[in-house]
Amino acid sequence: MILLLGASGYIGNAFAHCLAQRGWEFSAVSRKQVDYTRFPRLLELLKQTRPEFLINAAGYTGKPNVDACEIARADTLDGNALFPERIAHACLVTGTPWGHVSSGCIFSGAKIIQDGQTRVEKDLTQADCRAVIERSPESVQGFTEVDSPNFSFRDPPCSFYSGSKALGEEAIHGFGDRYIWRLRIPFDEFDNSRNYLSKLQRYRKVYENVNSVSHRFDFVNAALDLWHVKAPFGIYNMTNPGFVTTRQVVEMIERIRKPARAFEYWQNDEEFYKTAAKTPRSNCVMDTSKLLSTGIAMRPVHQALDAALKNWKSE
Ligand SMILES: NC(=O)c1ccc[n+]([C@@H]2O[C@H](COP(=O)([O-])OP(=O)(O)OC[C@H]3O[C@@H](n4cnc5c(N)ncnc54)[C@H](OP(=O)(O)O)[C@@H]3O)[C@@H](O)[C@H]2O)c1
Repeated sequence: MILLLGASGYIGNAFAHCLAQRGWEFSAVSRKQVDYTRFPRLLELLKQTRPEFLINAAGYTGKPNVDACEIARADTLDGNALFPERIAHACLVTGTPWGHVSSGCIFSGAKIIQDGQTRVEKDLTQADCRAVIERSPESVQGFTEVDSPNFSFRDPPCSFYSGSKALGEEAIHGFGDRYIWRLRIPFDEFDNSRNYLSKLQRYRKVYENVNSVSHRFDFVNAALDLWHVKAPFGIYNMTNPGFVTTRQVVEMIERIRKPARAFEYWQNDEEFYKTAAKTPRSNCVMDTSKLLSTGIAMRPVHQALDAALKNWKSE
């Protein structure tokens, strides 16, 4: 049996769906039934139910967005850094292998290869970066699993949410058998206030940047497959291979969904952060070669976005 924490959430719900679809026995626990965020309750739960694997899809994300985490700092730190550490301890004591949903939002920017040199650019909105991205996208490379987070408390600036997620990874480093699955900007074909494609279609103005993104069900299926094929434990970047600019996604929306509205863009970061956002946002490119080397595939990013928009299901 697999024990699933956080099944009532956006990502946990997709895990529950895929586990049921695969016919894998699982138990979804909510804090309403058992407050699994308390160490004694979690330990008792593991001892009683003896799961073969635990999935942690629980965490503190901030509603309606990460700006809320700047105010609820204690909850953010507890939900994203201390709670994973408690799970790690409980799983170590009971010998339970597990997987933790982390985030690619602990990085900012990408690696740019130019004239045989590789440099990290944290801000891909700068004019020279934009030119490289447009002219030679092959010279843009993502962060790998061995790169240190560069949008974290140790390498500021960062949002409090991103800082807490990076701390969460540190807190469970070297503890027992566990996967760290890094998800990034989830989207799929189901209209939902948490879906990146829904957000883009509803925002008054959109923010131009460059990102790797994850199809929610591609992500969940790849995470389950890693466990299923007994891939080595460790960190995995789990985005659809490649990257997209917001403009490219908007063009796909216009071509496929043919919305009545015209899209407007925030002019620059100054206008965006003055009007629409408080805390800095992570925008970054992830390298997925480690995942792909296990033989587990997520569709290339343009293909996954195209399919989601063509199969769009309104709420
Ligand atoms: N959605 C994204 O954009 C995104 C991107 C990258 C990574 N992630 C990560 O994926 C995980 C799940 O995110 P999500 O979007 O599914 O979040 P969500 O919709 O807010 O759901 C999280 C679930 O976690 C449980 N939970 C346990 N402790 C909590 C706490 N202190 N505060 C709030 N909820 C708590 C709740 O379930 P019960 O109360 O029913 O137990 C809740 O339904 C998080 O670790 C998040 O950092 C999310």
